[in-house]
Amino acid sequence: MLKAKMVLDRDFKLAPVDKRIYGSFIEHLGRAVYGGIYEPGHPAADGKGFRQDVLGLVKELDVPIIRYPGGNFVSGYNWEDGVGPLNERPSRLELAWRTIEPNQVGTNEFVEWAKQAGSDVMMAVNLGTRGIDAARDLIEYCNIEGGSKYSDLRRSHGYAKPHNIKTWCLGNEMDGPWQIGHKTAEEYGRLAVETAKVMRWVDPSIELVACGSSHSNMPTFPQWEATVLEHTYDAVDYISLHQYYGNQENDTANFIAKAVDMDRFIQTVVSTCDYVKAKKRSKKTIHLSFDEWNVWYHSHTADSKREPWSIAPPQLEDIYTFEDALLVGSMLITFLKHADRVKMACLAQLVNVIAPIMTETGGRSWRQTIFYPYLHASRYGRGTALSPVLSSPLHDTKDFSDVPYLDATGVYNEEAEELTIFAVNRHLSEPLLLDCDVRSFEGFRILEHLVLEHDDLKAVNRAGEERVAPHAGGKSTLQAGLLEAQLPKASWNVIRLGKQKG
Ligand code: AHR
Repeated sequence: MLKAKMVLDRDFKLAPVDKRIYGSFIEHLGRAVYGGIYEPGHPAADGKGFRQDVLGLVKELDVPIIRYPGGNFVSGYNWEDGVGPLNERPSRLELAWRTIEPNQVGTNEFVEWAKQAGSDVMMAVNLGTRGIDAARDLIEYCNIEGGSKYSDLRRSHGYAKPHNIKTWCLGNEMDGPWQIGHKTAEEYGRLAVETAKVMRWVDPSIELVACGSSHSNMPTFPQWEATVLEHTYDAVDYISLHQYYGNQENDTANFIAKAVDMDRFIQTVVSTCDYVKAKKRSKKTIHLSFDEWNVWYHSHTADSKREPWSIAPPQLEDIYTFEDALLVGSMLITFLKHADRVKMACLAQLVNVIAPIMTETGGRSWRQTIFYPYLHASRYGRGTALSPVLSSPLHDTKDFSDVPYLDATGVYNEEAEELTIFAVNRHLSEPLLLDCDVRSFEGFRILEHLVLEHDDLKAVNRAGEERVAPHAGGKSTLQAGLLEAQLPKASWNVIRLGKQKG
């Protein structure tokens, strides 16, 4: 049998896992909001129109932070359209996704919904059609107690207490020609630093994210990051990364190796941040907010045929396969391997739009295949990320050389006295025997070995038919601190070890 080795030592600490790496994203796009989280008249909707079945699934994922309201949407959004009495809110042509935006959900409704979900909001401001003025007014509306025009406006809308939103994105994908108000790095850097300055004057306690590149193949990457940070280094806390992968060529081995590209992308952004740090002789370190990531390609053809100007049409409704879940698992492992620098990450998105949760309008909701690695990482991947020592047989794929069959890492949760190993076996036809040295975790035993596997790489879940779901029948043994685990061919594994009680 193919064999791989790993050493996990409680003293090989990489960094505390910032739980916000398990964040997600809701954009005013497709059926994410309307027909997703919000559907007045649905049998499961509460008095305000929010579907409780969907909220239940979001809570199951325990999502610490949710980015809102876009995405490309935010670059044409007037936040004022989405506050105040519902019957006075305008419908607008939404140019990013070519729909009609009815503005029945806006800042206040979303913040209230997020609170119910147990999530903080990561709010994005419009630096496409707007700028400093609108950002200043919005943060005053959200974060100031009262006694000023916009804080009093919020109070008049029924929200006496400020929302106290801590994390703010300075625009979205401003490097992309598709973006409303696309800018050069110089133009964006100047606007971002001035907007940051004024937003902090309104509320000095906030954290700010500057836009990095829209993906690792952008022609302006990584010069974009360097230039933007030259302007904004002292004014922001994070730089964003976005990345989506697809399997258009139907080459599964190459597809499930794409976290290798993500790893390089992160390393390059870290180097670029640190280059600017060195140049500025700064003591400050910029961290990474990977605030859009996922698999996205299944819906491209359907979306290209859609007619414009309807309210909440189905858009970006990727139905995920089992192999997609493997790559999502590897992407989560990649964040954990960079826990020292990646402090936030948002699975894009959360409901209906390239999402782990799907709904039928007027009907059921269900979990896509990618729901599970995300659930497992969010639930068991909190604590301290360890630096694993790995050795694995390698293989080449179309785009990548020397790809380890084993993709794995470990998280030690001191509080719960648990060690969790996340592992993907990338081999498509053979199991992998993993020998893992966990001798420093004295007195630990195996609590559970969860496995997500399927004979059909293209298997999908549908309403009422969850073909791809994890089982707890993974085969592992632990003797004298040496764990032996069988990782089935093409599988996602979560091996949980805990202290022997009593
Ligand atoms: O998440 C879907 C879209 O992908 C977002 O609106 C945009 O930021 C990105 O290009």
